[in-house]
Amino acid sequence: MKTTKLAIAVLTMAVALFILIPSLSWADDGGNLFKAKCAMCHGVDGAGKPAAKIPSLIGDDAKKMSDADLTAAISEGGKAKKASHAFGAKGVTPDQVKMIVSYIRSIQK
Ligand code: HEC
Repeated sequence: MKTTKLAIAVLTMAVALFILIPSLSWADDGGNLFKAKCAMCHGVDGAGKPAAKIPSLIGDDAKKMSDADLTAAISEGGKAKKASHAFGAKGVTPDQVKMIVSYIRSIQK
């Protein structure tokens, strides 16, 4: 009886760790960053909201942008230096911007 309870406890912890550990590392993945910081405007699928003048990130215009253009648009608001878009000044690191750019490339396909 005692060993069964112990076995269940160990199993429960193993399952909890199994669920917890990958979700911790996912937190710093481009897709999660995108969902946390961009999707409320550009949409989870990156299609934007034309009615609200939010451009698509998966359309032809965004496909034509170079990685450098995308990086600049995200981290410093692009050529116009739009402060609302300067995620570099809002705690998004250059590495995270890189992950977001590669995520955008992955959903453009
Ligand atoms: C508050 C809403 C909002 C959020 C949040 C937001 N954007 Fe934007 N984004 C816009 C708007 C609006 C534009 C159009 C340019 C402008 O007028 O600022 C834009 C433009 C862009 C552009 C330039 C597209 C082009 O065709 O020139 C890129 C790239 C972009 N956003 C990526 C992102 C990424 C990546 C994130 C998350 C890190 C993000 N945006 C978060 C609203 C938002």
